[in-house]
Formats: sequence, C-alpha cells, structure tokens
Amino acid sequence: MRRYDTLWTNARLATMQPDGAPYGAIEDGALATLEGRIAWLGPRAQLKNEPARLAQDVVDAGGRWITPGLIDPHTHLIFGGERVADFERRVAGESYVAAAAGGSGIEYTVAMTRASDEETLFRSAERRLRTMIANGTTTVEIKSGYGLDVETELRMLRVARRLARACEISVRATYLGAHVIPPEYNEHRAEYVDLVCNVMLPRIARENLADAVDVFCDTIAFTPREAARVLDAAVANGLAVKVHADQIADTGAASLAATYRALSADHLERTNEGGVRALAEAGTVAVLLPGAYYYLRETAKPPLDALRRCGVAIALATDCNPGTSPVLTLPTAMNLACTLFGLTPQESLAAVTRHAARALGYDDRGILAVGRRCDLALWDVASAAELSYWLGASRCAGVVVAGVRRPTGF
Ligand code: NIG
Ligand code: FE
Repeated sequence: MRRYDTLWTNARLATMQPDGAPYGAIEDGALATLEGRIAWLGPRAQLKNEPARLAQDVVDAGGRWITPGLIDPHTHLIFGGERVADFERRVAGESYVAAAAGGSGIEYTVAMTRASDEETLFRSAERRLRTMIANGTTTVEIKSGYGLDVETELRMLRVARRLARACEISVRATYLGAHVIPPEYNEHRAEYVDLVCNVMLPRIARENLADAVDVFCDTIAFTPREAARVLDAAVANGLAVKVHADQIADTGAASLAATYRALSADHLERTNEGGVRALAEAGTVAVLLPGAYYYLRETAKPPLDALRRCGVAIALATDCNPGTSPVLTLPTAMNLACTLFGLTPQESLAAVTRHAARALGYDDRGILAVGRRCDLALWDVASAAELSYWLGASRCAGVVVAGVRRPTGF
C-alpha cells in the first residue's frame, strides 16, 4: 500500500534544524508528504521500499537543494501608486525625514491608497505577491497602515485576506493603523490614537481581519507613550503585537516591545545594548530589514554583535514598501544582510525560515521535520550558501505549499 502523496528523491535537504550539520543538511536525501504535512525525511538510502511503491507521485529533484518554504515576516505589500519621485529626490540627496516633513513620504502613499478601490489594490499587490512566491516565499506577513482611516484600513486588511485565498499561500495580516499620524489629525494626535484603540482595533478584532497589531514607534511617528496605548488596546483585544523600533532614533522602542512580549521588534538600526538584552529576556525576535537600510543609504547598522551575544533570534524580511524598500524577494534581502550587516549565509537562511516563523508566531513551519507543514522551496544551486550569493535573480525552481507543487511540472 502506498503511504505518501508525494515523494521527492535525489534531493539535498537544508532542514534548518538547529542541531547537527550546517544548515541541518542531509545530502542525497528524500522527503515525503502526506495530507499537507511532512511524513518522512532522511537519507535516500534509508527509504524502506522502492519509491514507486511508497508514493503515488515520485519526483526526482535532480540533486537540487530543498529548503523550508521561505517566510517573509514584514511587508507593506498593499499600497496605491509608487514613490518614484521620492526615490529621485533621495538620490539627489534629500533625507527620508525631510520627505516625511514635506508631505511626500508615507503621507503621499496614504493619499494614493485612499484613492484606490479594492480591486486596484488587490491587483497590484497580487502581482507583487506572485513574484515573491516565484522566488521561494510560501508565507508572508502583510501590514495595513496606508489608510489611516476606518474605511481604508479595513479595505487593506480585506485585500490581505483575499490575497491568501487567491494565491493559496499563508498570509498573516497585521493592523498598522499606528503607522504615522494622518495629516488631518496633526493637531489632535491623542484623538487619532483614540480612533485606533477604541474604534478601529475592536472592529478589526471582531471581524477577524488581522492576526497581529504593529506600531511605528519613532520620531516621525508615535511616541513610546502613544505606542504603549496602542499595544495595550491590542492586548485587550486578544491580538499579538509587533513594533517598528529604533529605525530613525533610539526612543527605547525595542525595550517597549520586550515589555509587551512582542512577537518581534523590527528595524533596530539604533537599538542600544539595554534594548537588545530586553529582547533576549522577552524572547522577542529581531527582524532586520536590509532593504530599507540600503535604499535609505543608512549608516547605522543594527547591533549584530550584541544580538548574537545575547542570543536574540534574528529574522530577515523584504519590508516590501513603495518608499524605503521596493524589494520583492527574500534572496535579495539575504544577500543584502550578508554584504551590509555581515550575516553569514547560514544565519541569513535561518533568518527567513526558522526565525521568521517565530516572528509570526508559527510553530508548524520554518524547519523540515516530520509533522511540520510541507512548505518547501526548490533551488537550482550547488550549495546552500549560494542562496545568499546571487543578487537580482534567484535560482528558485518552484515551491510546494502544504504538499502541493506550484507551479506543477517542476
Ligand atoms: O518599514 N518605517 C516605517 N514603515 C516602512 C516605510 C514605509 C514607507 O516609507 O512607506 C518601513 O520602512
Ligand atoms: Fe515596515
């Protein structure tokens, strides 16, 4: 009797299990799936029977590497328009903060997003998401935060839920109503925080439109006190939290994230040693965003040595957004993290698999192991380090989502 749905043989498995060989590698391995989960994996020589007797569908992976499907734990994938004019101004020397003050920056994207109907937002985001999937991503987090009013924030979150169904991958939707203060509330900041906490958040929780809540705690966005109000409301509504922390200035946002046992604290370019220790104690994952660092021509690097020394799990994301990181693929983020931050290729793969899963609160994926979801990415590379080596075009041969090959025929 056949025991598995699909069996991949002649594969090199980067299981990313933390103990053992680098990358948790199994050379000349095989992996089998049953009902969407990994049912067996190991050296091919240990297969108990002829492959054709074990599975309906046997795939010769041709010596390719198989990794866990990649997980992108921080994106702003849904937005109206683009910000090419910002890019041109920044290339000419203007800073991100100056753009924010001058009404371009995030504010511009908010205006464009408010003016876009659901179909338009859906279609442009879907195109970007399909590019991500073609480059190995099988789980993605998507934030709202370019609406900043009830109607548009809900529209963005509905689009996020719709993308999951249309593209048949896992989407974690995050409510980021506290991205910046919208211009109409500039003189009434507290009222906007009230709207987020007392109107938007309860409604979003009730309608199950988000899985987590994020807040941008920084000099151009929310103060730590304002951010704490949003985080309190998130917790009161039963939602997990995340924080955009210490990107532009060290406002103590990483420590704030730790106080709330946030799933993750993201950016961290200016986090101090005390903030790093707090993250370690709280078990909060550090999500680094090298795309934004690169695009903004940042010079302050996240505190890699302290993060390593204190044992903070390091994840990576594309931060895909129109202003600071028009980056679509995780292999690009992996390369930038190696070249700009000094991550090793092995750290960068762990950062988009095992650690990224934790940053989204998933314990059913991120490593290859029996019982985990069968989300895989297949790669035309000769070594696992090569995944971080190419820039601009990845070598992804296809992905598997919950045991199903996409596209079929690879
Ligand atoms: O993660 N830091 C805040 N939010 C985004 C940028 C959004 C934008 O500029 O549109 C980020 O980099
Ligand atoms: Fe962001």
